[in-house]
Amino acid sequence: MLSAKSLFQEILDNDASFRLFCSIAASGEAQGGWENGRIAALVPQSQRALAPKIARHGADEDKHGRIFHALMRKRGLEPVPVPPDTDYTMLLERNGIGLTHDKLKADRPLTVDDIVTYLAHSRVTEQRASEQMRLLLRLFGDHQDIGRAVRMISHDEDNHLAYCHEELLRLAYAGHGRAIQRILRECALAEIRIYRDVSLAVMAHMGRVLRWSRARNALLALGIHALYVWERAVGWRRMVTLEMPERRDALGGPAPKAAEFA
Ligand SMILES: [Fe+2]
Ligand SMILES: [Fe+2]
Repeated sequence: MLSAKSLFQEILDNDASFRLFCSIAASGEAQGGWENGRIAALVPQSQRALAPKIARHGADEDKHGRIFHALMRKRGLEPVPVPPDTDYTMLLERNGIGLTHDKLKADRPLTVDDIVTYLAHSRVTEQRASEQMRLLLRLFGDHQDIGRAVRMISHDEDNHLAYCHEELLRLAYAGHGRAIQRILRECALAEIRIYRDVSLAVMAHMGRVLRWSRARNALLALGIHALYVWERAVGWRRMVTLEMPERRDALGGPAPKAAEFA
């Protein structure tokens, strides 16, 4: 039977697919880390209280990248180049979602509108990250090495999502509500499309590495398309709501010293 658990188990058990999976994940995390680091450095004066939280957000993503590298190292594996069609973060940026890398590379301070854009983009992508890590945690929470890594990353992604909700609500009360709703909607609709395309690409690459049958490839593609149909019809709405999180100031204070893999 084809289940999410058996699918991931197969990817984990094979060195070549495990290396590809970790390389793709590490590269996305590292890009997120870089983006947040640049945004923290360019925060406008009026939002400067956010700078340490954005820096912490970036530091967390960098740490996640190192964790995926450490998981490969533990198995004596080297990272492989990430196929461009699986590069979720880059594809989002290319599709005009979030802040452009040109803007982040320039040394001009961002505007409050840019901060709204960054937070709305993060609210959507952190929802995805949080859900994916919760799935992995459910499937592999008991696994020796993977379980520990996944538990740490999942906790962080939940914090990132809580922080986005809280800060966006603050900006909504400050008069940015309409812009926030518009950007959230744009981001969510683009993200579900890119997520579908990246999922199809990742599964095609995995299928080649693991020599899956055509029937299996077709079944997986069908599942990915079905998820998209659901997300396009109703699921996207879960990505655009704002609720005050139970855990306030999730990224306040210094990063807790976690026993690192790296
Ligand atoms: Fe992350
Ligand atoms: Fe995150």
